Formats: sequence, C-alpha cells, structure tokens
Amino acid sequence: MLASLLFALLLLTRMEVGAKFKSLHCTALDQDYGDILICKLKAISRLRNSVTVQYKLKQSISKLFVRLEFFKRANGWRPFLYNFTANLCDFLDRKNNVILSIAYAYIRPYLAMDYSCPLKENELLTCDNFELDINDIRHRFPIETGEYALQLTFIVKNKAALTINGSIEYQNYREH
Ligand SMILES: *[C@@H]1O[C@H](CO)[C@@H](O)[C@H](O)[C@H]1NC(C)=O
Ligand SMILES: *[C@@H]1O[C@H](CO)[C@@H](O)[C@H](O)[C@H]1NC(C)=O
Repeated sequence: MLASLLFALLLLTRMEVGAKFKSLHCTALDQDYGDILICKLKAISRLRNSVTVQYKLKQSISKLFVRLEFFKRANGWRPFLYNFTANLCDFLDRKNNVILSIAYAYIRPYLAMDYSCPLKENELLTCDNFELDINDIRHRFPIETGEYALQLTFIVKNKAALTINGSIEYQNYREH
C-alpha cells in the first residue's frame, strides 16, 4: 500500500517533469568586442535548472546580426527545424521577425533591460536565471522527446564574435 502510494507520488512528480538544460557553452570568438563574464547553469532542484549569461562589451556596436541554429541529437547533432540569420539591431528596434519575436518573448523577462542599438561600450548584456517553460513551448511546437540544442552566433562585420549554445533534454513521462 505504502509502496504503491509512494510510486504514485513519484509518478505525479515525474509527470511535472518537462525538460532541463544539459549543457551550456559560451565562446568569445573575437575578444575585441567583449568578454564573457558569466556563463553558467544553476540547479534549482533536481529537475529544474536555469541559465545565466553575462557579456561585457568592449566597444560600441551599431550593426549586429544573430544566427539561430537548432539541432536535435540523433547520432550526433543534426540540423533541426530552423537555421536563419537576422539583423538583431533592426529586430530590437522594430520587432519585425516572427520567430525572433517568439524567442524574445521567452527570454525578455530574464534580461536586465530592453536592449537597443547602438549597444554601448562597457554595457553589460545580462540574461539572469532563464528557466525553460517546456509546457508552453510544447503547446506551440509539439516536439518529440529527445535532446535538442540551440546555438546563437552573434555576428559583427560578417565575423562571429560570440557563440552561445545550450542543449536541453526533454522527456515526456506522460507518454509512457
Ligand atoms: C546554417 O546556415 C549557415 C549559413 O548558411 C551555415 O554556414 C551553417 O552551416 C548552417 N548550420 C547548420 C546547422 O546547418
Ligand atoms: C556547442 O559548443 C561546444 C563548444 O564549442 C561544441 O563542442 C558543441 O558541439 C556545440 N553544440 C552544438 C549543438 O553545436
């Protein structure tokens, strides 16, 4: 009796499980533009964690592009769904890109402020304790269980200045 109750409780808790971050890598490819001050995953509980990234600019930037590449793991990382590059300065100004708008809406509550170009010298770009809301994401994009990654590449003058990539492990216990 007790065992089955515990088992039921365990299942209930597990049903809450969505996804957590598995890895996070930040690389300042061109340190003329800035330095990574923080790039870390923080455990909130056994099943939840968050991402904090902080980057300090060394010079003002008025033209900035961002590339988003999605991957799914299947014998190594395979391209998945989207791979596109957008003018980030234009987007911050006009919110003129549908996919970026969706991504931005997720991340905005965790940003230190509303950024806009030109980004200033010594400005800190901070994303603090970003947590995944997989149920919301799943609701909009029904995805299969598995491991997914997103790589962001920030591009200045046609050169990658910074990459941030993170992977998540997504398990849906309700299907089993
Ligand atoms: C995404 O597109 C860029 C530019 O076309 C290309 O260099 C890169 O290899 C592509 N990435 C993936 C994962 O296919
Ligand atoms: C993320 O970056 C790390 C370090 O550069 C790299 O080893 C890994 O393959 C990257 N992941 C993806 C999905 O591109």
